[in-house]
Amino acid sequence: MTATKAKRLNGKAILLIVGGGIAAYKSLDLVRRLKERGASVRAILTRAGAEFVTPLSLSVLSEEKAFTDLFDLKDEAEIGHIRLSREADLIVVAPATADLLAKMAHGLADDLATAVLLATDKTVLVAPAMNVRMWQHPATKRNVATLRADGVALVGPEEGEMACGEYGLGRMAEPAAIIDAIASSLGSSLLGTSSLGTSLLAASPAGANAEGPLQGLRVLITSGPTHEPIDPVRYLANRSSGKQGHALARAALELGAEVVLVSGPVALPDPHGVRVVKVETAHEMLAAALAALPADIAICAAAVADWRAADEAPQKLKKQQPGSEASLKLKQNPNILATLAKPGGKRPRLVIGFAAETENLIDNAIAKRRAKGADWIVANDVWPGTGAMGGDHTQIHLITGQGTEDWPAMSKDEMARRLLARAAETLQLLRSAAE
Ligand SMILES: Cc1cc2nc3c(=O)[nH]c(=O)nc-3n(C[C@H](O)[C@H](O)[C@H](O)COP(=O)(O)O)c2cc1C
Repeated sequence: MTATKAKRLNGKAILLIVGGGIAAYKSLDLVRRLKERGASVRAILTRAGAEFVTPLSLSVLSEEKAFTDLFDLKDEAEIGHIRLSREADLIVVAPATADLLAKMAHGLADDLATAVLLATDKTVLVAPAMNVRMWQHPATKRNVATLRADGVALVGPEEGEMACGEYGLGRMAEPAAIIDAIASSLGSSLLGTSSLGTSLLAASPAGANAEGPLQGLRVLITSGPTHEPIDPVRYLANRSSGKQGHALARAALELGAEVVLVSGPVALPDPHGVRVVKVETAHEMLAAALAALPADIAICAAAVADWRAADEAPQKLKKQQPGSEASLKLKQNPNILATLAKPGGKRPRLVIGFAAETENLIDNAIAKRRAKGADWIVANDVWPGTGAMGGDHTQIHLITGQGTEDWPAMSKDEMARRLLARAAETLQLLRSAAE
């Protein structure tokens, strides 16, 4: 790790609340990574959290006392729960148990963690972690919706194998993803290892860079999957996490652009300082993208469903005879990339599409660039073994009118930064050529 990357949260004070979930062990790694990046960390453990990790481990790693008890008078006299909140730049709850989310949503304050959460006026970022059925329970869904409406940011949960042996949505986001969400929530620069020059690091509190090469330009980005309803409770979807699209939005903002992010359903926090339009279906995404025009650059990073159910059933479809087969008739969705790239007055000057393929990657991407009328295609192999779908890293090939460039494997943030810097350069060249 380079020194600049290590210090990208320099001077930031994080108050970390560790709830009573099996993922609490990851909070130790999170503290270590935050410290490496120059942040100071104070930890609060719930009573259940202290069953999973010890105050001593957290205190050794954070180099601060770890707090547990609201009624520890010595602490109240010296530091108090109000001061814990006041002295933090951001409060992070990781893992956020179903119980903590419920207490937060209802304004309970019966221990130190919840009293701090109710008393704070700071941004709160939660990383939920729980069994898939706890996550999908209507009560948790209601609590999460309430918390979102209250302005609480979420990172994760992710889908995967759980400690209880089940599979599904509910795993806590990995520490690296939580760090990115923290940086995003703080509006701090993600350009730590920039090769573009230190001027790009001078971000404003909102994360935008008034000096950046995209200053004065508007960038439209689509991100995440779409959900295409089959009936009132079922939908067609894909495994897109939205990590790449959201990283592009952050990078565009960092380079000074005004950013509109049209996002399908994702479990990521909204990037700070970006206008986010949330949609479910391909049709809604197209309408939102068109409504966001004019734009100078459009980047279609969303994994838009190619098909939708030909007829959405008004009632939940019932099982027929045991063992009988069912079929689903599909209709093609509109193509958002091709629509945005269509020549005409509102066509963005640079239209960039993504091609996720599991075979014949380059050939299919070259064909897609021509067929859709896009300027560039970012081709990435999403074969399950690559980890690109849902992961934090990617290895892409950039297909332009001049040919194909093979980029090395890198984080999605780094890729986003490089792609946007390249887009800025290209628009500058177009501008110079036109003058
Ligand atoms: C072994 C074990 C693992 C648990 N894992 C989780 C979990 O991952 N997520 C969760 O919401 N609750 C989990 N629980 C239940 C919580 O510990 C329980 O709801 C507790 O009251 C939460 O307290 P807190 O929210 O104050 O931390 C687990 C309990 C046990 C015994």
